[in-house]
Amino acid sequence: MSVSRPNIATPTLREPFSAEESRLFSQLDPARLPRHVAIIMDGNGRWAKSKGMAARIFGHRAGIDSVREATRTAAALRLHALTLYAFSKENWSRPTAEIAALMELLDQFLVQERAELNDNNVRLVASGELEDLRPRTRELLEETISLTSSNTGLTLNLALSYGARAEIVRAARRAMEMARSGELSPEELTPELFSRMLDHPELGDPDLLIRTSGELRVSNFLLWQIAYSEFVVVAKLWPDFRRPDFLEAILQYQARDRRFGGVR
Ligand code: IPE
Ligand code: IPE
Ligand code: MG
Repeated sequence: MSVSRPNIATPTLREPFSAEESRLFSQLDPARLPRHVAIIMDGNGRWAKSKGMAARIFGHRAGIDSVREATRTAAALRLHALTLYAFSKENWSRPTAEIAALMELLDQFLVQERAELNDNNVRLVASGELEDLRPRTRELLEETISLTSSNTGLTLNLALSYGARAEIVRAARRAMEMARSGELSPEELTPELFSRMLDHPELGDPDLLIRTSGELRVSNFLLWQIAYSEFVVVAKLWPDFRRPDFLEAILQYQARDRRFGGVR
């Protein structure tokens, strides 16, 4: 059965595809694209250092271009969701100046990318303990979420002040509250129901998890949701991650045999 290619050359995709990108794209099986991709965007500090810059923030700033390009690519491929690990619970332990600079960059992103998100029909949502963010950042986040809420294409989920253990504990508390109020009995709690108590269950579990910078760890990201995700670790640092790298990761994903514990 022949399956038609998704229309990648959407008018909203501003820059043309390079020859390498077109070659990679033609190798993709449009019928087996991941529905939800999650990315641990790592290596910004090392990127700044490798460029001889003393401040890690230069790497974070350069990483914004990679965020924009990954989002455009996911939207152009008509993926359902892209979850980006932008700031972890544990990242609050970083130097105050780095945290302040990261929050400033987040504020800028939330304002500057609004038109781009709307042009690409992208809906923004966020996961994590958003109450930890400063009031100004929360306000801009809520504004951008609401300004893009009726978009029907890709859902871009920013994980902010996110920790998977904290998310699981919040879900467990919800279940306990429901049990206390008599809405749910302990026997009725199933993995499916528990999944629905986590942040943004409508996105589904990630099919593909990408980590840049070569680190082989999960760093408290989506521990529940990645039970059967395929992992692709890319050696490149996040600010160097470009569309061909994303397409290569999807090609690697398509070469995997997902068995979910069963047999072929
Ligand atoms: C990832 O890059 C961005 C955040 C965690 C906010 P890092 O800042 O962790 O950079 P490295 O891993 O130290 O190079
Ligand atoms: C994971 O990267 C968090 C984000 C990408 C936001 P880290 O750099 O914080 O993780 P570790 O410290 O290497 O595990
Ligand atoms: Mg890191």
